[in-house]
Amino acid sequence: MPIFIDSSNPKEIEKYHRMGIIRGVTTNPTIMLKEGVTGGISGIRQRSREIAKMVAPLPVSVEVTTNDPRVAVEQALEFKSWADNMVVKVTVHGPCGELSNMEVIHDLETVHNVRVNVTAMMSAQQCFLAALAGATYVSIFGGRVNNMGYDCRQEISRLRRVLDQCGLKSQIIVASTREVLNVIEWLDAGAHIVTVVPALLEGMLVHPYTKETVQMFLRDASKVEGLL
Ligand code: E4P
Repeated sequence: MPIFIDSSNPKEIEKYHRMGIIRGVTTNPTIMLKEGVTGGISGIRQRSREIAKMVAPLPVSVEVTTNDPRVAVEQALEFKSWADNMVVKVTVHGPCGELSNMEVIHDLETVHNVRVNVTAMMSAQQCFLAALAGATYVSIFGGRVNNMGYDCRQEISRLRRVLDQCGLKSQIIVASTREVLNVIEWLDAGAHIVTVVPALLEGMLVHPYTKETVQMFLRDASKVEGLL
């Protein structure tokens, strides 16, 4: 049940990668933009390669920037050529519910040997269909589901049971982390992976009472040393 980091900031990724606590990286166009990536596909290529090289062989998910099926396949093949550990993110459907992405996902996995992370999903049933289409990863946006007034843990548990019952190999990534607690509770609900924003990784690690305890140890250690 690993943790991925949800970031395209090389410094943040390197920091947590060096600690040995992440098992993959997820990005999306919004994260790339927030982290200062510009210059279209060449900007995405440069940043993606930098991250993929840094964390290899861990998987790095990068999202196609189009909803045109032909261009999406071309982009996916280009992404794949950047590094062996590239995973291509494709949204489950288009901005107006267009269905062509499912065929793109199926072809990328079965014809082009590209690992696909199907993204922007809000329900177990969407993820189930993406898994049937052959997706390596199915990403459900837990924080967004919760923001709509539902408890995404129910969707995660049902999805995990159905995938296991049907012998489907897709890995469930739960994304859109909003709170430190999300990570443990979503893994506990059945997620294979939770992708976590850097600030929450720090929040998971640092505890006020641990700080106080470490301060006590260091204070007393200095007194013990003083006695020598
Ligand atoms: C990761 O795969 C997702 O793209 C990301 O977690 C979405 O986060 P958001 O819901 O905060 O935009």
